[in-house]
Amino acid sequence: MEIKTTLRQDLKQKPPLDATLPFGRHFTDHMFVMDYNVKDGWHNACITPYAPIALDPAASALHYGQAIFEGMKVFKGDDGKVLAFRPEKNMQRLNKSAERMCMPLIDENFALDALFKLIKIEKGWVPSDPAASLYIHPFMIATCDALGLAPSDTYKFAIILCPVGSYYKGGIAPVRIFVEEEFVRAVRGGTGFAKCAGNYAGTMLSQRRAVANGFDQVLWLDGVHREFIEEVGAMNVMFVIDNKIVTPQTGGSILPGITRESILQLLADWGYKIEERAISIKELEKVYDEGKIQEAFGCGTAAVVTPIGELVYGEKTFKLANGAAGELTQRIYDEVTQLQRGKCEDKHGWVKIVCN
Ligand code: PLP
Ligand code: COI
Repeated sequence: MEIKTTLRQDLKQKPPLDATLPFGRHFTDHMFVMDYNVKDGWHNACITPYAPIALDPAASALHYGQAIFEGMKVFKGDDGKVLAFRPEKNMQRLNKSAERMCMPLIDENFALDALFKLIKIEKGWVPSDPAASLYIHPFMIATCDALGLAPSDTYKFAIILCPVGSYYKGGIAPVRIFVEEEFVRAVRGGTGFAKCAGNYAGTMLSQRRAVANGFDQVLWLDGVHREFIEEVGAMNVMFVIDNKIVTPQTGGSILPGITRESILQLLADWGYKIEERAISIKELEKVYDEGKIQEAFGCGTAAVVTPIGELVYGEKTFKLANGAAGELTQRIYDEVTQLQRGKCEDKHGWVKIVCN
């Protein structure tokens, strides 16, 4: 499919492309859009000036939540090359989400070509500053013009780009996390593994309450027993217990993070023993009391690698990492960020050159 490109003449004034960038507030000059209907499949692929999207007020994305997204990043290496980190994984996951939400699949290679073409046009928006990057947000929404609970027969897929600084204020500063015992995020058999809009809407009340109480994020427990650790708002979690890495398995209710998968591979390369398994908050409490938790961190595209400094569970506070990033957390952060910027050996072939 050909991509029709219309460039804008009145380019935006760019903000400083450095650590001062807020997350998700500035968007680049152009976006990629394409449409789907049953007769033509995906069609009308174009790169156009960034602008509002017109929607029928009955569009089912608005009412029934048929909406999915991805989050990925590109970086500028010292040599000026623009590098993407495992972008094909995000397109694969987008299709997994689409399947779960009864939405049409995209051609992953075509979507990657479209993304790379868009980034080449927006190369000037990719920060060189090591504390910033270009965040990529592909998404798909159901656009049909009828109410009624059935999958839409028309859709829109778009990719928007925004230069971002760090997701949490303070870069790799440890975060304070509230263990949520009242609300749950997902249950097995539900949509937890998909990156669908509703998964996030349902977490906002809890998140808002936690922030009002001085926390950065909440840690979700499983929806059935409210006992087993799932993940944090926008991150998967890992614990270093007795020199082993323990992380919840991806059993359908948590997002199978690409950062998570990459870090587990790096840790395996470094010879760490990894346990992907159910870990209960009670077990965590026990090993904490025994002094066996050495470090804990969250990981995700937006959050990168974020040390967990404090975990508050009811009356109990688990203080971790002595108020700083633990040694292994820092090593992982360094390795991931260096890899993403083409500064260390890419043994697994994860980094793709988008443009020179
Ligand atoms: N869990 C949730 C709920 C997320 O939103 C994210 C971010 O995308 C992650 C985990 C981490 O996933 P990834 O590493 O693929 O960005
Ligand atoms: C990401 O890490 O890409 C996410 O999707 C987090 C998002 C909720 C801001």
